[in-house]
Amino acid sequence: MHPNDKLINAEFKSYQLTQAGDRYFDGLADKFSRSLYQAPRGELRLAMLDYLLPQMLTLSHQKVLDVGGGLGQQAAWFAERGHRVTMAEPSADMLNYAKTWHRDAKTLPEEAITYLQAPLQQLTQHVPGSWPLITCHAVLEWLGDPQAALATLSDLLAPGGQLSLMVFNRDALRFSNVVKGNLEKALSDRLAGKGKRQRLTPISPVSHAEIEQWSADNGLVIDAVAGIRVFQDYLRHSPATPAETETLLALEKQYCRYDPHWRLGRYLLYTLIKPEIVE
Ligand SMILES: C[S@@+](CC[C@H](N)C(=O)[O-])C[C@H]1O[C@@H](n2cnc3c(N)ncnc32)[C@H](O)[C@@H]1O
Repeated sequence: MHPNDKLINAEFKSYQLTQAGDRYFDGLADKFSRSLYQAPRGELRLAMLDYLLPQMLTLSHQKVLDVGGGLGQQAAWFAERGHRVTMAEPSADMLNYAKTWHRDAKTLPEEAITYLQAPLQQLTQHVPGSWPLITCHAVLEWLGDPQAALATLSDLLAPGGQLSLMVFNRDALRFSNVVKGNLEKALSDRLAGKGKRQRLTPISPVSHAEIEQWSADNGLVIDAVAGIRVFQDYLRHSPATPAETETLLALEKQYCRYDPHWRLGRYLLYTLIKPEIVE
């Protein structure tokens, strides 16, 4: 056997969906880091979350459960602000990447972050409710059954708890495909990715109407909503200078919560609240 065969087989295997139809990011950590977070769209996403989370959440150093924490940016963001974070992520590659990055590049308080290698579906066993604050950003669209996932997140929330949910917006995916000239694809609604190979097109993009329905089904109240990247994906020319990049960021901030612009954000960011039990 060629020495590389094992590696190739391992990589091939890791690009399959799980039995539940989920796409774990094993083998994708470098690509995800490069193509998203080391690119303008990732920078804009982080800048917008940094701007929006303090507005959309009531933050009081409460403990946080970060579900599908990926490369660990959100866990670090909360840990730097005095929260104790449990970062759950099923992909060993992503979790190791996050641990190493937190250790080498961040100055975080000792034991600020607890790492748990587990999928969302197992969290009611591993870290049962009641969590006052849960974040689940850009994960639902990588699951075979995003609707069931929202029910699990609701179970994990404490009464009065907040869920910061960010999903890849199916309506924006359609719009950007049309803008790019993929007319047939948009017309036949072949928008979702297959989750095979190294593609980063989500397998289960979600619409605002679905989030409204699924939230209501689980007794969750939509407290706030915003669009992330409401303009960037539709630009004909990328910003050419740092000043133009700044202006784009200012525009995104100005209109991210403004109807109709938030509705076509590449991602939709929600604060969902589980109401207190009234006796
Ligand atoms: C697009 S990344 C988002 C990572 C991070 N939350 C962020 O916003 O950068 C999607 C993540 O969901 C994870 N994932 C896939 N299936 C999952 C599941 N069943 N439970 C929890 N996370 C899952 C992937 O491994 C990947 O790290």
